[in-house]
Amino acid sequence: MTGQRGCGVRSGWLRAVAGGVAGMTAAAASAQQQSVVDSPHNLSAAGPGTIRAAGEDQVCIFCHAPHNATPVRPLWNRVMPVEAYSIYTSRALDALPGQPTGTSKMCLSCHDGTIAIGSVVSRDAPILMRGGVTTMPDGHGLIGTDLRDDHPISFRYDGSLVARDVKLRSPTSLPQELKLDPNSELQCTTCHDAHNNARGSFLVMRNAASEMCLSCHNMGTTTITAHTDCSACHQPHSAPSGPYLLKRATVTQTCNHCHDGTLPTAADIASELRKFVSHDTGSAVDPAGAPAEHSTCTDCHDAHTMSRGAGVSPAVHPNFGRVAGVGLSGSAVTAATSEFEVCFKCHADSSTIQPDVPRKIVQNNTRLEFSTSAVSFHPVAGPGRNPEVPSLKPGWTTASTMYCSSCHQSDTARATGGGGPNGTHGSSIRTLLAARYETFDRTSESAAAYALCYACHDRASILDDASFPSHQKHIVDERTPCSACHDAHGIASFQGNPVNNSNLINFATNIVFPNSAGRLEFRDTGRFRGECFLSCHGREHSPERYEK
Ligand code: HEC
Ligand code: HEC
Ligand code: HEC
Ligand code: HEC
Ligand code: HEC
Ligand code: HEC
Ligand code: HEC
Ligand code: HEC
Ligand code: HEC
Ligand code: HEC
Ligand code: HEC
Repeated sequence: MTGQRGCGVRSGWLRAVAGGVAGMTAAAASAQQQSVVDSPHNLSAAGPGTIRAAGEDQVCIFCHAPHNATPVRPLWNRVMPVEAYSIYTSRALDALPGQPTGTSKMCLSCHDGTIAIGSVVSRDAPILMRGGVTTMPDGHGLIGTDLRDDHPISFRYDGSLVARDVKLRSPTSLPQELKLDPNSELQCTTCHDAHNNARGSFLVMRNAASEMCLSCHNMGTTTITAHTDCSACHQPHSAPSGPYLLKRATVTQTCNHCHDGTLPTAADIASELRKFVSHDTGSAVDPAGAPAEHSTCTDCHDAHTMSRGAGVSPAVHPNFGRVAGVGLSGSAVTAATSEFEVCFKCHADSSTIQPDVPRKIVQNNTRLEFSTSAVSFHPVAGPGRNPEVPSLKPGWTTASTMYCSSCHQSDTARATGGGGPNGTHGSSIRTLLAARYETFDRTSESAAAYALCYACHDRASILDDASFPSHQKHIVDERTPCSACHDAHGIASFQGNPVNNSNLINFATNIVFPNSAGRLEFRDTGRFRGECFLSCHGREHSPERYEK
């Protein structure tokens, strides 16, 4: 199509452009054109911005020409950039953006920084700019040719995309200001109008309370007011994270920009992450590799749907929001209903973390350890198997359930009597424990040494031998840690059995050894009765029996 025929098709705007370009100076601008004149897109010598011509007084000429223009509508006066852009991508993206098309290429003919701003088709030599400016200088106007950090453009936003991404609103119900191009593609001009800077940033509509973002995105609702404005965490251009357009390079930095103790109302998580063990790999967004190798805030919290506060076991915490998980059966769930389902994403079938204590029965899939069909287990996924646990403190019964975070918790959390934020973020105690739990042989018993267990199990009851008549002898006299005999998690159904592995018995093989007959075994022979075949602290048990 030639420029002339283009004019014929749309004579209305032809007159405006042609009239404008032919005789326009700033003074002659009509009311509709006035907004270009007052905006940073008035690149004539009289323009208001810092980037403007040395002497040229025409306003429209930088983008439009009356004749001899390119065949691109509307009488486009610029050479279009070549298709050499890096395109936005992310793991969650459903759209299929390609090289920029349509009006986006018009914008990029200045904003990608490859073509001189004054270079127009209707002139042989580029229009001279003040200060020797040629292409778009560094600064907020430079979008560049790397669009991986910019809101995706030049893709079809239609019913089939919405069917793939439930968090998008239907394009048929967009506010009238937001226009897709004739091919239903989202372009720069969906959000921007190059002629109207009334709202700043040439936006087509207000975005003060993220109205514009919310017109297309339906991310769910959060009751945390500091999280309601998209721009608290996102920016549409030159985003440091690339994928997901975050304001900082990583998710952690984006969140901890506020959660670092500088905002008095936002819990200080950054300090937690500086502790001896921390639950954060600080990885780039959208990392390669299995989820189990990484962890960051959004693996446990969804910024878009969370509300304040902790839950009551077994329900998921309100401050997790809607996060994905893995169910007890091992299949993926899109919205976890329990905390452990979130942990199972990384610490179950795909776990990469080796057990801290070497044991007779080795298992690093916590889903199998805590399954309600396990031989014995701490009651995370459902009430435990043992009807008689005399040591339980008030508030706990054999019908209780608990969180993983009942044990894996900040050692200074409010939840455990400290003043700091709750959560599985960091601890000064190994394996991210809420309180001390010594596993070295010859540990002198004290309330502090096994504070983790004594938070729920009464120390006096244990040391008074209320169940196992030799607790005191082993723990105090022989200075044997609980972990020599007990597994803190559970024993998987296919690895143990109720005779050998009731009461969370799973010996630590660095402390307890086979006896001279080669046996390393516990046998449950009834209520508070049992026998052991082993060798420990140089003593043979072949067997050693106990009875209450
Ligand atoms: C910085 C570049 C730029 C400048 C300067 C500019 N325009 Fe435009 N103009 C555009 C772009 C880009 C489009 C295509 C927008 C679209 O199709 O959504 C356009 C489209 C138009 C149209 C067609 C509108 C339509 O709905 O199809 C008219 C009329 C117009 N411009 C007039 C003017 C006049 C008059 C001036 C000078 C006062 C001017 N423009 C200055 C970039 C510019
Ligand atoms: C002829 C070159 C040119 C074209 C074409 C052009 N722009 Fe610009 N644009 C500029 C310049 C120059 C600035 C000022 C940058 C600065 O001050 O650093 C600017 C500024 C902007 C700004 C920032 C406004 C502000 O409030 O600071 C936005 C947004 C913008 N342009 C969007 C667009 C879009 C969208 C298009 C296409 C529809 C487009 N531009 C086409 C040259 C152009
Ligand atoms: C989904 C909406 C959307 C799309 C698509 C979009 N922008 Fe923007 N753009 C914005 C918003 C919102 C701002 C204002 C950001 C702010 O004020 O923090 C902005 C700001 C800008 C700025 C000013 C610099 C800055 O970072 O604030 C430029 C220049 C710009 N856009 C150019 C473009 C160009 C060129 C395209 C197409 C390649 C484009 N935009 C596509 C929403 C969009
Ligand atoms: C005109 C509609 C529209 C507007 C306005 C809009 N977006 Fe988008 N945005 C989309 C569509 C469509 C996608 C592609 C979604 C997909 O394929 O998963 C998208 C993608 C994104 C992505 C990348 C998603 C991913 O899966 O990688 C982010 C982040 C984003 N938008 C944030 C914003 C923010 C922040 C604003 C406001 C400044 C905004 N959007 C405004 C329509 C819009
Ligand atoms: C408190 C911070 C925060 C706020 C506020 C926020 N987001 Fe996000 N958003 C994120 C983070 C972090 C990610 C990356 C998620 C990940 O790591 O998987 C993200 C991802 C996204 C995605 C891509 C993934 C997806 O689920 O489709 C879109 C789209 C998005 N945000 C849009 C928005 C919009 C629109 C708003 C405003 C209504 C908003 N966000 C507000 C932090 C935030
Ligand atoms: C702009 C600052 C800001 C950013 C960025 C931010 N937050 Fe927040 N966040 C707050 C404030 C302030 C509160 C407390 C608000 C309240 O209590 O109503 C809060 C509350 C929370 C809570 C709920 C705490 C509770 O009481 O249970 C969680 C969880 C949370 N943020 C996680 C995140 C995550 C994850 C990110 C990053 C994706 C993030 N925040 C980014 C400011 C921020
Ligand atoms: C997205 C994956 C992911 C999720 C979800 C996850 N973790 Fe982790 N976890 C890791 C990674 C990776 C490490 C290794 C430490 C690090 O961050 O560098 C780790 C470390 C740990 C450690 C410390 C292990 C050691 O030997 O020091 C504990 C305990 C832990 N996680 C418990 C949990 C609990 C409880 C949950 C659920 C509330 C959970 N994790 C959710 C990935 C995850
Ligand atoms: C009753 C307390 C308790 C509960 C509940 C608990 N853990 Fe642990 N966990 C521990 C202790 C103690 C260790 C240190 C190893 C040891 O002493 O056997 C540990 C170690 C770990 C480790 C490091 C690897 C290893 O096995 O040593 C990971 C990962 C872990 N736990 C994840 C979880 C997950 C996920 C949940 C919930 C599904 C959970 N834990 C529930 C007490 C608990
Ligand atoms: C392994 C899962 C996991 C990860 C990763 C994680 N959190 Fe948490 N977070 C929790 C748990 C569990 C809680 C405690 C729930 C409760 O009791 O309130 C929590 C609580 C919080 C709270 C409320 C604290 C309070 O008591 O006021 C904030 C704020 C928070 N997290 C922010 C973050 C930020 C920011 C990141 C990333 C730096 C992050 N979380 C990473 C699991 C996680
Ligand atoms: C958050 C509370 C809590 C903590 C911390 C805790 N327990 Fe328990 N424990 C329980 C509850 C509740 C039961 C009852 C389960 C049942 O009835 O089977 C239990 C049961 C047990 C049992 C009997 C299990 C069976 O199947 O026979 C043993 C042994 C045990 N705990 C040891 C420990 C040790 C060792 C620690 C320290 C690592 C510890 N517990 C930490 C709450 C806790
Ligand atoms: C030498 C091995 C051994 C050591 C060390 C040991 N236990 Fe036990 N524990 C047992 C045996 C055996 C039973 C089962 C008694 C029965 O019911 O027959 C038991 C039962 C329990 C029970 C369930 C019944 C009850 O009393 O409520 C708890 C809880 C418990 N131990 C906690 C601990 C704690 C906490 C420590 C460390 C401070 C510890 N144990 C150290 C062997 C040991």
